[in-house]
Amino acid sequence: MSEEESGSGSDATGGSDVVRRERFSGGPARGFLSSLESDERIFEADLAVDRAHVVMLAEQGIVDEVSAGEILGALADVEEAGHAALPDGEDVHAAIETAVVERVGDVGGRMHTARSRNDEVAACLRYRLREDLLDAVERTLELREVLAEVAGEHPRTVMPGFTHLQPAQPTTVGHYLLSYESALRRDTGRLFDAYDRTNRSPLGAAAFAGTTFDVDRERTAELLGFDGVIENSMDASSARDFLVESTAAVASLATGLSGIAEDLVVFSNRGLVELDDDYASTSSIMPQKVNPDTMELVRATAGDAAAGLNGLLTTLKGLPRAYNRDLQRAHGHAFSAIDAVSEATAVVAGAVATAHWPERALAEAAGEGFSTATGIADLLASSGVPFRTAHEVVALAAESVDAGGADYAALDAAAREVLGGPLESHVDPEAVETALDPTESVASRDSFGGPAPEAVAGALDRAEERHEADTETLAERHGALVDAADRLDREVSGYV
Ligand code: ARG
Repeated sequence: MSEEESGSGSDATGGSDVVRRERFSGGPARGFLSSLESDERIFEADLAVDRAHVVMLAEQGIVDEVSAGEILGALADVEEAGHAALPDGEDVHAAIETAVVERVGDVGGRMHTARSRNDEVAACLRYRLREDLLDAVERTLELREVLAEVAGEHPRTVMPGFTHLQPAQPTTVGHYLLSYESALRRDTGRLFDAYDRTNRSPLGAAAFAGTTFDVDRERTAELLGFDGVIENSMDASSARDFLVESTAAVASLATGLSGIAEDLVVFSNRGLVELDDDYASTSSIMPQKVNPDTMELVRATAGDAAAGLNGLLTTLKGLPRAYNRDLQRAHGHAFSAIDAVSEATAVVAGAVATAHWPERALAEAAGEGFSTATGIADLLASSGVPFRTAHEVVALAAESVDAGGADYAALDAAAREVLGGPLESHVDPEAVETALDPTESVASRDSFGGPAPEAVAGALDRAEERHEADTETLAERHGALVDAADRLDREVSGYV
C-alpha cells in the first residue's frame, strides 16, 4: 500500500485491512472470519494495549519518539471516533491499525512491531475481563450486604427449615439468609482468585515464539496495571484458562443464586415470604396472579452460566499449541456468562432487600410437621437414653399422631412402649413442653454456626468483618487499575 493510498481510508467494498491486504480481502467467508462486531467489548482495551506497547517501543528505542507521538495521536483520534467508526477489518486489532494508518500513513505500520495479534488479543481479553470480574465481585458484595442486613433484622423470626422440601427443624430468617451470605463469601473469593491469575501480561510473547526486538515485557505489564508477565511466550499467547476459571467462578455463583431463587419461589408460593411487586409479574390472562418471575429468571441464569462454561471448555478442549482461530470464539462464552450472572446477582439483592417476611405465618409454619422432633430426641439422649433409642421413641410418637405433631401424651405413650416406663422418669415434663416450642427449639441450638440468636449475632459480626476486608481488597484492585490508567495517560501525553 502506497503512502497516498494508506491515507485515503479503507475501501468499503474491497475491504483490504492492513493485515489481510488484497490477497485475502473478500470471499464468502469474510463475515464469518471477522470478529470486529463482537470485539467492541475489547475496543478500549485494545487502545490501552496499543498505547502501552508503543510507549514501550519508544522507550526501548525500537520506534523513534516522533513516530510514537504520531501513532499515539492517531489512537486518541480513533478512540474519539469510537468503535462504530472503525474501518472494516478482520478484527478490532486490524481495524484499529488500519484506522491509524489511514490517519498517519505508513508510520502507523510501526505500531505492530514486536508483537502479534496473538499476544495482543490475549492482553486485551485479560485487560477487559479484569473490570468485569471486579464488577461481579462488587455485585456479590452488594448482595452479601443485603443478606446480612435483612438477617440482622430477623435474628428471632422463627421459620421452618426444610429438607426434601418438608418442614424439618425450625430455624430463623436470620440464620437462613446468612447461610447464603456465607456461600457468597466463597464466590467473592473465587472471583478474586480468578482475577489474580487473569491479571498477568502476555505481551511480548508475539505470535508465540517471542521476538528478536529488545522488548521490555515488565514495562508493558506495568503500564497496563498487570501484576507481572506470563513468562513462557507460547503459554502467554495460547492460554485461556483464565477464562475458564473466571467462568467457573460465575457459574458457581449462579448455581448458588438459583438456590436462593428457588427458595423464594417456593416460600412465596406457601405464603412464607412476599416479594415486592417490582420483583413479581402478573399474568396476561389470569387477573388474580402475582408470579415470582424475576426469581425464575435468576434460577434459569444458572443455565446460561453452565452453558457458557461448557461452551468454553468444549471450544478449548484438544486445541493444539500454539494459536488456533478457534480461540476467537472462546471468550464470548465467558463474557456472556459474566454479564448474565452479574445482572442476576443485582436482581437477587433487590428482591431480598425489598421482600417482606410475614412473622406470624412463618411462626405457624415453623411448628408444622412435628419439626421439633429432633429436639425431643436430643433431650432424651442428654438424659442418658442412647440417641438411636430416643429417635425410636420420637418416631413412634410421630407415627401415632397426624401431621400437626406429637404432644406430650403421644410421647409419653411411646416412651412407655419403647423404654418400658413413663417419659417423666427420663426427662422433666416441663423441659419436654419447652422443646416442643419452635422458638425455644431454635434458642436451644446455640452451637457455633447454629440458629440460636446469640450464635447468629456472632455470625453477623464476622460477616461484617469479612465484608469490610473484601471491600478493601476490591478497592485496592480498583485503585491499582485506575493508577495504571493514569500512569499510562501521563506517559502517552509525553509524546503527543
Ligand atoms: N481476532 C483474533 C482472536 O480473537 C485475533 C488473533 C488473530 N490471530 C491469528 N493468528 N489469526 O483470536
